[in-house]
Amino acid sequence: MKRILFVASESVPFIKTGGLADVVGSLPKYFDKEKYDVRVMIPKYMCMKQEWKEKLQYKTHFYMDLNWRSQYVGVLELVHEGVTFYFIDNEYYFAGMKPYGNIYEDIEKFAFFSKAALSALPLIDFRPDIIHCHDWQTGLVPIYLDNFRYGGEYYRGIKTVMTIHNLKFQGVWDKKKVKDITGLPDYYFVPDKLEAYKDANYLKGGIVYADKVTTVSNSYAGEIQTAFYGERLDGLMRARSNSLSGIVNGIDYNEYNPETDIFIPYHYTVDSFRKDKVKNKVELQKELGLNVDPKVMMIGIVSRLTDQKGFDLIAYVMDEMCQDAVEFVVLGTGDEKYENMFRHFAWKYNGKVSANIYYSEPMSHKIYAASDAFLMPSLFEPCGLSQLMSLRYGTLPIVRETGGLKDTVEPYNEFEKTGTGFSFSNYNAHEMMATVRYAERIYYDKKRDWNKMVERAMEKDFSWNNSAKQYENLYDSL
Ligand code: ADP
Ligand code: GLC
Repeated sequence: MKRILFVASESVPFIKTGGLADVVGSLPKYFDKEKYDVRVMIPKYMCMKQEWKEKLQYKTHFYMDLNWRSQYVGVLELVHEGVTFYFIDNEYYFAGMKPYGNIYEDIEKFAFFSKAALSALPLIDFRPDIIHCHDWQTGLVPIYLDNFRYGGEYYRGIKTVMTIHNLKFQGVWDKKKVKDITGLPDYYFVPDKLEAYKDANYLKGGIVYADKVTTVSNSYAGEIQTAFYGERLDGLMRARSNSLSGIVNGIDYNEYNPETDIFIPYHYTVDSFRKDKVKNKVELQKELGLNVDPKVMMIGIVSRLTDQKGFDLIAYVMDEMCQDAVEFVVLGTGDEKYENMFRHFAWKYNGKVSANIYYSEPMSHKIYAASDAFLMPSLFEPCGLSQLMSLRYGTLPIVRETGGLKDTVEPYNEFEKTGTGFSFSNYNAHEMMATVRYAERIYYDKKRDWNKMVERAMEKDFSWNNSAKQYENLYDSL
């Protein structure tokens, strides 16, 4: 039996700000339980829902030094759907309305979390063979582990995997401050270790010290070795290319299932979508005050509203696209400029554009089920889960060919009658609009082809089964 510990800053169903939480919370369920005991460790945030906080069982507590600070570390536990979750408790660090706030606070918060995660291991009776770290928040884990090895036998031999879900976020802060926070010796603060461009860089440290590095799609694994996508770490990514691989994400096929989804009014399958999917559209049109018309093409967007997702392209051509026979349904929060942009278009094109500037799991499911197409013109996209959810609900993705979008959406070929969506290659607003309009033409004029494509989309398998196997192989190779 191999023991694996995921260490991460968020996980469904407890706390989520993006796809990272989906991955951390769902992937562990899909390992071969006979051979792999995979557990998860996350912070116990005060902003978690009360219903979860109530269920957590106290396990142990101790005090830990973080340089000159002595801090309380509580450990709580909950077994959820067969997976053991550990929660690191400290009310000073994990208070707050959201998991992340100011970077200078987060830098100390996740130094604490990373060190506490390792320090807790001897007390919870779970010594992992492999610690699987996710994103910059856990970048210090491999570094502390290296440091701990000098202290004693317990930590020797534990291997690490670092998964990059988004290279844009690296956890960068002043070197002197990070020295003071972490208490790590000077030895680590040099350019071939924790330092990058004169600052301390958590993700870089994790990448340098991890035994294996992965990212969440094959294309992104290649892209981050280039200057455009490399976020100034492309040199490092090239240097580690022998240990770097891409494993595409899956989604939880039980959670996202149009046949059983508790959030959608009308269930459907690949056999019944032709008559039943549209009922969800009509229901949503009524709920959101859109013009009610079963025939009009509905385009959905569910996203963090940030530059990564290509919203500047949409800003350029939204007026033009709104001249067409389409409706837009947007669900998202993020940069104020994009929140206000969608509010503006909802006001200007009342009945055609619905802007829902909030976070809601139920509403996201309704949009995946109700829409005909899903627009995701990302500037970069390590994997993307929304397009996988869309495929599962027979909602055809319109995407830019980058990262995981390129690897998971096969563009429509009207001659060979293949494909599961639509895509364009350059980051250009008019190219995007031309692709949206091409999709409109197929939707209105070639309904048979469209429906065949929906069928293929729904039949694609992006459950975790395949990718979990690849992680198993990776663990076995260590
Ligand atoms: P990222 O992690 O970059 O935000 P992904 O596509 O990997 O992008 O994952 C986004 C996840 O967050 C999906 O599960 C999506 O449904 C969800 N999501 C994003 N915005 C919202 C929102 N406003 N309400 C509900 N779910 C959302
Ligand atoms: C990041 C990426 C997204 C990916 C998710 C889960 O948030 O932006 O593309 O799907 O992590 O790996």
